[in-house]
Amino acid sequence: MTWVVALCLGLLLPLGHSKTVHIYVSPKGSDGNSGLDVAHPVATLDKARQLLDSSGIKDNMVYVELMGGYHNLQSTLHFTHAYSQPVTFRAYQDQEVHVTGGKQIPANMFTHVTDSSVLNVLPANSRSKVFQLHLPSAGVTDYGTMSKFGFYVSRTSWLEIFINGLPARLAQYPNERFLNLVTVPGGRRSRVFTYTSKEDSRWVHEKEPWAYGFWYFSWADDGVGISNIDINKHQITLANDTNYGLRIGHYNPSHLAYADNQGGYFRVINMLSELDQPGEYYLDRSNGNLYIWPNTKTGTLASSDVITVSLINDCISLDRGVSNLNFEGFTLEACRKAGITGAAVHDINIQNLEIRNLGAYGVSLSDSNNITVSRCDIHYTNGGVNLTGGDRKTLTPSGNIVEDNHIWKFGRVGGVGYNAIFFDGAGNVARHNHMHDGQYTGMWLAGNDNIVEHNHIHHMCVNSTDCGGIIAGRDWSGRGNVIRYNYIHNVVKNMPGAENRGIMLDDQFSGVLIEHNVFFQNQYHTNIGGGRDNIIRYNVFYDAVNYPLNVDGRGILYASNNGTLYDRLRAQPYKTKPWSTRYPKLATIDTNHPNYPIGNQIYDNVFYNKRGPNIVQYHGTGLNKTEYYDIHDNFNANPAEFWSPREYDFRFRCSIETWANQNSVPQPININAVGPRQPTGPKYIQTAIRQYHSTSRPASCTGSIIG
Ligand SMILES: *[C@@H]1O[C@H](CO)[C@@H](O)[C@H](O)[C@H]1NC(C)=O
Ligand SMILES: *[C@@H]1O[C@H](CO)[C@@H](O)[C@H](O)[C@H]1NC(C)=O
Ligand SMILES: *[C@@H]1O[C@H](CO)[C@@H](O)[C@H](O)[C@H]1NC(C)=O
Ligand SMILES: *[C@@H]1O[C@H](CO)[C@@H](O)[C@H](O)[C@H]1NC(C)=O
Ligand SMILES: *[C@@H]1O[C@H](CO)[C@@H](O)[C@H](O)[C@H]1NC(C)=O
Ligand SMILES: *[C@@H]1O[C@H](CO)[C@@H](O)[C@H](O)[C@H]1NC(C)=O
Repeated sequence: MTWVVALCLGLLLPLGHSKTVHIYVSPKGSDGNSGLDVAHPVATLDKARQLLDSSGIKDNMVYVELMGGYHNLQSTLHFTHAYSQPVTFRAYQDQEVHVTGGKQIPANMFTHVTDSSVLNVLPANSRSKVFQLHLPSAGVTDYGTMSKFGFYVSRTSWLEIFINGLPARLAQYPNERFLNLVTVPGGRRSRVFTYTSKEDSRWVHEKEPWAYGFWYFSWADDGVGISNIDINKHQITLANDTNYGLRIGHYNPSHLAYADNQGGYFRVINMLSELDQPGEYYLDRSNGNLYIWPNTKTGTLASSDVITVSLINDCISLDRGVSNLNFEGFTLEACRKAGITGAAVHDINIQNLEIRNLGAYGVSLSDSNNITVSRCDIHYTNGGVNLTGGDRKTLTPSGNIVEDNHIWKFGRVGGVGYNAIFFDGAGNVARHNHMHDGQYTGMWLAGNDNIVEHNHIHHMCVNSTDCGGIIAGRDWSGRGNVIRYNYIHNVVKNMPGAENRGIMLDDQFSGVLIEHNVFFQNQYHTNIGGGRDNIIRYNVFYDAVNYPLNVDGRGILYASNNGTLYDRLRAQPYKTKPWSTRYPKLATIDTNHPNYPIGNQIYDNVFYNKRGPNIVQYHGTGLNKTEYYDIHDNFNANPAEFWSPREYDFRFRCSIETWANQNSVPQPININAVGPRQPTGPKYIQTAIRQYHSTSRPASCTGSIIG
């Protein structure tokens, strides 16, 4: 029998060929429907997922057609196995589709606050503005819990609320900026400190106060619970330790750029008494009342407003081995943890999604290969894309590509450790992305042979210091990384602490090739933190706040990273092939003063800097040696010798061009050649790609010195 069927199928269908099946899903559908035609859609993505394994559908190419509306996941959409043919979940006919981990609450369930005990706690200016929602009346009883956040914590958020896609934030004081820790009586590793604000008398009724701060370093933030507030002593006792302890702060908003004294500042959060502006909310977990001053244009709520609360943890998860799965063209939002997460998966394409309003990373796939994330809009998450893959031992590239995405405001609750893109492994590629508005770093590179090219990166490190638009750090063995043809600008220092840089090679990171990039108005454009064999060439370094480049020899001065550096080195087969042929200078590191900044080359760059004629600032003495930093043939230009710096056009003319031609230095990239090549996000929100003004080449090399 089986034989006969197989034989018939074999005759009817060309071998190895499958048909294409469409499964329709609509929020108005029913899971009792077949889902196989547009008039009989199933209701849930999970039902569609189950249908993928049914006979007649299994082993065919499948489009799961998501029809317009809000598809609220009841639990994580969980894929358990590979598909033999591609399966694509996509917006049907480019309709407006939202896949959410929450539910929508009708505006009319929100009422003005009448309870006098609540009104008495609310600030006077907000009493008539704040709305109240009794969550259990809306069928919501899982509020989640407040939990530690900031500094690399892979968090599961508590219940959050979003109005028309905009996140609200926990009510806080101060609304912007921070308060200093004034005394720390128990010392660094204690939990008690005082502050000077007299506004704390409001805080006595708070049920679950928390604090958020940069408690010791301006590159490490922690959200922690408060166990006691003594308003007579203006003293707070934290419920938990912070990562690096506590210290007295010198935060002064008018002198931030100059202050080297870092850390020691905080704000209080999760306080009803501080709910004093639009976009703030507070949830009283003891009774399920949520209070919010709506962040709508009118400051109030109408039936047309889409109000979503987040309920489930990960939106979509992929078990080991899942492959041949694609997601296209919809908005994925309002989950308490990641958007799409998994380990050891391959051949997954994530395209034209909008990924927003999550508690953790938008996409986080570890130990995975052939993953493509392209043309997505990722924002209001806590981390953009985290991909690890490839095989470092054999230097087999992962095949992972992150391209043409727009990623911004990707550190929403907590700043440090939530990168726009994080790579580890071997051979991951990030190209043509537009990344901006990061509290801390934009891209973190770990592992080997990652390529970062044609990206537009700016306004990173906005709320932290000792940071870079792109960072790689503390690994001699992380060789073969290439950062080229990027446009990196406005990474400056807004907070106390150490310096910020466009590219930061931290703690002896080595073997990076940085070429053909344009840097503009960063504090420092790039640093080399005592590493080896880095090459910096063919870049334009224009107008740094401090110096174009800063280099040091920290491994000579102190060995505090020595243990980690050796551990990471010895974890790799660096003395044998293919490593020894790919990275010959690493193969001999043991006998060549490993902790010295040997073999760095800085040449054929063009720079203009108001601060002086030098392209590098040496941090430390005894570093001006060619065996450490071989610096030669860099061109110190005049602003008038570029096409039009004011319009971000740094192409060469006049004497730079003559010099460049003589030295075979190519013209720099055009600003319109970086960033996404195609519109990002689902069709319903796509806008044209931004084009910068095309300047024409100024005619004459005489006169016209532009300042
Ligand atoms: C406080 O710290 C302990 C020990 O590290 C941890 O188990 C607990 O979850 C923390 N509490 C909060 C609210 O973060
Ligand atoms: C990225 O994911 C990997 C694997 O889960 C994890 O080890 C790493 O810490 C993550 N990176 C960041 C910056 O969170
Ligand atoms: C990735 O794709 C390439 C090219 O299609 C293929 O050769 C390779 O086997 C794939 N790797 C994995 C892990 O699927
Ligand atoms: C930096 O912090 C301020 C104050 O908390 C916040 O308003 C702003 O959104 C943060 N910037 C970024 C890029 O996240
Ligand atoms: C660094 O660690 C290596 C290996 O553990 C050791 O041999 C060397 O003495 C250390 N160097 C310094 C400067 O501490
Ligand atoms: C480095 O040393 C060379 C040769 O002694 C000197 O010309 C140059 O000015 C020095 N550079 C800096 C930045 O000190």
